Amino acid sequence: MHRKTIYADYAATTPVSEEAFSAMLPYFLQSFGNPSAIYCYGLEAKQAVEEARRTIAGIIGARVNEVFFTSGGTEADNWALYATAEARKSRGRHIITTSIEHSAVYYPAQKLEKQGFEVTYLPVDKYGLVDPEELERAIREDTILVSIMMANNEIGTILNIEGLSGRAKAHKVLFHTDAVQAVGHIPVNVSELGVDMLSLSAHKFGGPKGVGALYIKVGNILPPLISGGGQEKGRRSGTSNVPGIVGMAAALREAADKMEQNMKKTAALRDRLIEGVLKIPYARLTGDPVNRLPGIASFVFEGLESMPIVSSLNEEGICVSSGSACSAGSGEPSRVLKAAGYPDELAGASLRFSLSERNTQEEVDYIVEKLHTVLETLRSKKNASMGAV
Ligand SMILES: Cc1ncc(COP(=O)(O)O)c(C=O)c1O
Repeated sequence: MHRKTIYADYAATTPVSEEAFSAMLPYFLQSFGNPSAIYCYGLEAKQAVEEARRTIAGIIGARVNEVFFTSGGTEADNWALYATAEARKSRGRHIITTSIEHSAVYYPAQKLEKQGFEVTYLPVDKYGLVDPEELERAIREDTILVSIMMANNEIGTILNIEGLSGRAKAHKVLFHTDAVQAVGHIPVNVSELGVDMLSLSAHKFGGPKGVGALYIKVGNILPPLISGGGQEKGRRSGTSNVPGIVGMAAALREAADKMEQNMKKTAALRDRLIEGVLKIPYARLTGDPVNRLPGIASFVFEGLESMPIVSSLNEEGICVSSGSACSAGSGEPSRVLKAAGYPDELAGASLRFSLSERNTQEEVDYIVEKLHTVLETLRSKKNASMGAV
């Protein structure tokens, strides 16, 4: 039997922090009102929602009226793409994104293509970086939107959003960034980044699942994706998820306050893990060696497949992912790694460890040790079956 379970999949989701959890509780039990109501329960709830908006806006460098609550990162991404396409289709039907976006951007882009929009998927280099010159060359007269993620969820690469958004701005093209993996983990400031829209999601930084936000810069009249009762100034209908919004703000406050120390601790654990794993034969680090999220260490293991590695590690009490939470389980080679130039055999042999400040050195050492034995066992099984053929 293995000892306690080690969680190393924080990029998939995080536990709700104790601070966020206690901040949420009163809004389930006592202050349960609908924030649209004008009696005391409603007013209390509305006040909490507006306070949360102020907190989040302050942390990401936005104005209060630029933060709109959504049901999470997926909705925020879908909203940015579909609504921009709808609002600007008379000006042009060309959209630019990258080949390494999360499905929450990638699939809307594909759907828009089916609806008559033209989409350019910018290539990335072997580290997952986009060349601003490449973006410059792709921008056309009829380009209405550029959507490029801030940090990649599979390989952890942090992209140069400032440099990229400047190119779009010079051509008066709107720029959206999916910052779901970045917010709460590395400094994110919308004005420094120079973006017009930015998506974030609470459950990636110690908040609850099913709540997020889209930053929409003042002056960008983005039509709603969801219509109904006219909440969020008519931009996003639906009764506000009051406890979720309060929990998201509390989690982000805590993440921002502890960011420096958390980044330091997590990056040290990540580097220890990388050092240990790279001693294993045929292991290769993926993503940018320097510009990477503090928690993500991702690898490919030549000659093996992701799924058996993930399952064997699970049997040892270690929770990791083969790539993104969404494509994990599909058995398909990673679209991101393929875009970064990895052949199918390697893109199907990826493993993503995502750590947090909650992990320990002892856990990291245990992961390396078990990974070593798991890979050896899988290799000798594979060699034996090949010998038997
Ligand atoms: C980069 C990125 N964008 C968007 C999402 C979707 O966010 P949510 O789970 O809040 O819908 C994720 C979640 O894995 C992500 O990693």
